[in-house]
Amino acid sequence: MQCKLISVCMLLAVMMVFSGCESKKTSQGDNEKMITKEAYGQVGGKAVDLYTLTNKNNLEMKVTNYGCTVTSLRVPDKEGNLGDVVLGFTTVDQYVKESPYFGCAVGRYGNRIALGKFSIDGTEYTLATNNDANHLHGGIKGFDKVIWDAEPKETDDGPAIVFTHVSKDMDEGYPGTLNATITYTLTNANAFKIEYSATTDKATHCNLTQHTYFNLAGDGSGDVLGHELTLLADHYTPVDAGLIPTGELKAVVGTPFDFTSPHAIGERIGVLKEGVKNGGYDHNFCLNNKAGSMALAVKVYEPKTGRVMEVSTTEPGVQFYSGNFLDGTLVGKTGNKYQTHAGFCLETQHFPDTPNQPTFPTTLLKPGETYRHTTQYKFSVKK
Ligand code: BGC
Repeated sequence: MQCKLISVCMLLAVMMVFSGCESKKTSQGDNEKMITKEAYGQVGGKAVDLYTLTNKNNLEMKVTNYGCTVTSLRVPDKEGNLGDVVLGFTTVDQYVKESPYFGCAVGRYGNRIALGKFSIDGTEYTLATNNDANHLHGGIKGFDKVIWDAEPKETDDGPAIVFTHVSKDMDEGYPGTLNATITYTLTNANAFKIEYSATTDKATHCNLTQHTYFNLAGDGSGDVLGHELTLLADHYTPVDAGLIPTGELKAVVGTPFDFTSPHAIGERIGVLKEGVKNGGYDHNFCLNNKAGSMALAVKVYEPKTGRVMEVSTTEPGVQFYSGNFLDGTLVGKTGNKYQTHAGFCLETQHFPDTPNQPTFPTTLLKPGETYRHTTQYKFSVKK
């Protein structure tokens, strides 16, 4: 008896040592599903964590609280095999040193603000500039480069992490203390759902988004030019040589920007001329849904694996970026070098440079108001 007790204690001790990670278990029907947390190194002397979320269909997402960065997302193909469909690195050091915004949250402002300047009520603000003369993705230390507080949460919808961050008044030049919350849920309906909210104590501009690079054929499997894209947008915002919108909303009809019916990403990429830097799509599309409520915006189909991703959002725009600046120098988690077009991003947001474009839907956030945005990337297969 005593011997049995000792063996059980020893087994428990061994399990504790080897598990090395804290886990929060929850019951979902008969299956036990988990959110687990493990150490993911340090950034600036502070520990960061990596969470693994598993939904009831065994889809799995890994995310770190450094920049709310999704490092892997495993979803089934038409044979039912799980594969990782997002680009990323193995270690947090690589994210710190060389990430082209892989997998992260972006704030306070997704995309560019011309010359890093805007005025509110006659006061001009100067932001950090980090993209030639312009401000890009929140500046030098945007929301992708901060360590967020993270709270795992089991919901009826699926496992979730609630990330919070307080951005101080004049952070990267923006007025107002911004309290931001971003909730990632891996839903039991097989979607990566993101809910954003923010409040401020001074009038400011806020435009949060998510910058995951997808490759539905699998991370490291080559380029995404064969993916078929449908984008429910009759207009896009043409840009100048610095990728700043000219202010015009231009009809897509008869141009390589017309994805209102499905087209392979690569089909017309070679004939793209207008406002193109490094060849490829890097443009904001004005979504047809103007209601501010959740609606389907984009559908992507990958013929080899049968994977389908549907993007729904409450936002008026989506930046479709075809990984034009990847140039084969970055080595991803599969050991592959990321070549041009190895992934694509669909960044749902308000239009770039809105603070300087009076005709675009506003991004101004005032005290007493709450910024809200919901987007989901839902996965399925077509056989
Ligand atoms: C921008 C690109 C930029 C990229 C950075 C995209 O959202 O539109 O111009 O190079 O982010 O990875």
